[in-house]
Amino acid sequence: MFTVAQITDLHITTDRDKLNQERNEARLRATLASIMRLRPRPVAVIATGDLVDRGEVDEYRNLKAVFEGFDIPVHFGVGNHDLRGPLREVFPDDRVRTDKNGFVQYAIEFDDYRIVMCDTLEAGAAGGGFCSKRASWLNSTLRKRPRTPTLIGLHHPPIPSGIRWMDEDPSSGWIRRLDRVLRKHSQVRAVTCGHMHRPHSRLFGRTMVTVAPATSIQLTLDLTEVDVRVPDGREILLEEPAGFTLHMFDRGEITAHTCLAGEWPSAVQYLYPFLKD
Ligand SMILES: [Fe+2]
Repeated sequence: MFTVAQITDLHITTDRDKLNQERNEARLRATLASIMRLRPRPVAVIATGDLVDRGEVDEYRNLKAVFEGFDIPVHFGVGNHDLRGPLREVFPDDRVRTDKNGFVQYAIEFDDYRIVMCDTLEAGAAGGGFCSKRASWLNSTLRKRPRTPTLIGLHHPPIPSGIRWMDEDPSSGWIRRLDRVLRKHSQVRAVTCGHMHRPHSRLFGRTMVTVAPATSIQLTLDLTEVDVRVPDGREILLEEPAGFTLHMFDRGEITAHTCLAGEWPSAVQYLYPFLKD
């Protein structure tokens, strides 16, 4: 058994946006501290995009500074707030890897498992994208280890949350393209995403999709109708605690724990045997 922590939607920025920067950096640091306290310690951390707010080099430099001294291997993916060029400029190392077309897509190999990071960034759009080049890369990557239980990490969830102003049309081309690839590879046990700043899960075809909470602020859980052309003053984001997902790889399957970042007082201790004979 081993674990991998997933962080997402860090939205690190610069002093140009001081309030957001101070808050988002503090929340990311609290999340990383929580991950470091976990036992057993996760063997890796994956970050599923929206690493920064505007895709600027200075923002990625601030991100890099937060990870200074953090000694668990980190693997970055991209979201709609990221830009591939500036990200690669600041992280030319193997924390960011690209396929032959320049998409931030790569496999993280373990003895009995794999994590495959995919790139759903569509330049200039808030929603996701997964073009035929990316789909064919995923298809051939999954073909290389067809019997190895695999977790896919990407930014945009292909499932609806019910928070309507953020949800994608489930019939959009990129979602159907992703579905067609996943249906061919039964070793894919789960897909894990970010983007929604609120944890939820749902089946996508025969694959479980989980969405991790943001390390920055969370989306308000409001499942009522909304007219996306008429702002009505409703709350859409709130300062719920930062969070992350802990993926446990065990006996060929993957369990996802949604976690709050922070330190909590102890409530009950193990003082008596769980089993008495
Ligand atoms: Fe985000």
